[in-house]
Amino acid sequence: MNITPLPGHPHVARRDGQLHVEGVALDALAREHGTPLFVYSRQWMLDALAAYQRGFAGRNALICYAMKANSSLGVLRVFAEAGCGFDLVSGGELARALTVGTDPAKIVFSGVGKTRDEMREGLAANIGCFNVESEAELDVLNEVALSMGKRAPVSLRINPNVDPKTHPYISTGLKGNKFGIAHDHAPVAYRHAASLPGLQIVGIDCHIGSQITEASPYLDAMDRILDLVEAVEQDGIRLHHIDFGGGLGINYQGDTPPAADALWAQLLARVDARGFGDRKFIIEPGRSLVGNAGVCVTEVIYTKPGEDKNFCIIDAAMNDLPRPAMYQAFHAIVPVHERSTDATIYDVVGPVCESGDWIGRDRALAVEAGDLLAVLSAGAYCMSMASNYNTRGRAAEVLVSGDSAKLIRRRESVEDQLLSEKI
Ligand code: LLP
Repeated sequence: MNITPLPGHPHVARRDGQLHVEGVALDALAREHGTPLFVYSRQWMLDALAAYQRGFAGRNALICYAMKANSSLGVLRVFAEAGCGFDLVSGGELARALTVGTDPAKIVFSGVGKTRDEMREGLAANIGCFNVESEAELDVLNEVALSMGKRAPVSLRINPNVDPKTHPYISTGLKGNKFGIAHDHAPVAYRHAASLPGLQIVGIDCHIGSQITEASPYLDAMDRILDLVEAVEQDGIRLHHIDFGGGLGINYQGDTPPAADALWAQLLARVDARGFGDRKFIIEPGRSLVGNAGVCVTEVIYTKPGEDKNFCIIDAAMNDLPRPAMYQAFHAIVPVHERSTDATIYDVVGPVCESGDWIGRDRALAVEAGDLLAVLSAGAYCMSMASNYNTRGRAAEVLVSGDSAKLIRRRESVEDQLLSEKI
């Protein structure tokens, strides 16, 4: 058999011309489960995780998968089984983490707007740490913990004010962003936290943005965080762990982010040089653990020649793949079976009634109605951000491992959608 992996996608390959994820043919999955259909490679996730594990070999480290990237239970189970903890941002995500049977001590709870109910749920579950983002939140968490006769483990999320050089909507560590406590104010906030009897300070954290493709913003942020560790510890407050967030990018369109192990070799050298190598490290990667594990298989409904543009209308839309509409993001689109006819330049669009409903612009494709396409790099921030806009049911999801494929989410029906409503 002739096996040709797609460049940058080691577990997506043409086998005798037909597109496969690991050992499973995408056209067979589409026939069985319909389209649009998300298909994930378990091996890609484990390989991506292994790069981080190599980076932290011999260290006291905890990898908390940021489940906002893809919170489907079948995906979470892969990471829980591999020993990961979870970074989560809502009571709903906490319920998902507990459903897949993770050790609550490996959970960190991030987010600028945790409610009292969410705090109570986290405390009742005995999670490992609340990443607190404001002094107001410190006060409320203190109150909630005392009312439950507990002490909440806390870390303060610091906004280090470094530019991650990524899309403005997904940069989070700049002064103007809503996230974290200002770097200069952090010592005051730590002293305040230390004065509250319902809190137990365990660490410090930051997260500077997402789809970061260079090491330099990380190195700058690490320096800024270590400056604070020094300052805070001079005040007599011990920081047991350093949580450095997530944000490492993936290859969507020839992007070349550093490999996770190489990046962490650089960062840990910096940490060691400053004498903090004995600390526990927590990281919160999302996209880099799942992004290129997934493809979305979709069928061409019509091709439509136009005066200015030709359109290739597919059955996946902005409700399934929201990233192009939201961030002008690029996802590669390839045919499941290649045709030998000449390619036409198309805008690939969905059926949703908005001009913003595009998935790819100016793509050269040789396609006819009824053909299947695969939208690549669709493992992160696609299904987890999917909506029911236009009363479209959310897609089904399949997890592939070697030659076997398991349905991990059935297609959402109209009945599912109408169930929670009343006339
Ligand atoms: N930790 C915190 C506190 C975060 O806010 C995020 C992502 C992560 C970890 C994980 O970051 P990652 O490793 O996945 O870059 N929807 C956007 C991305 C939003 C990221 C939000 N925060 C997109 O589709 O590009």
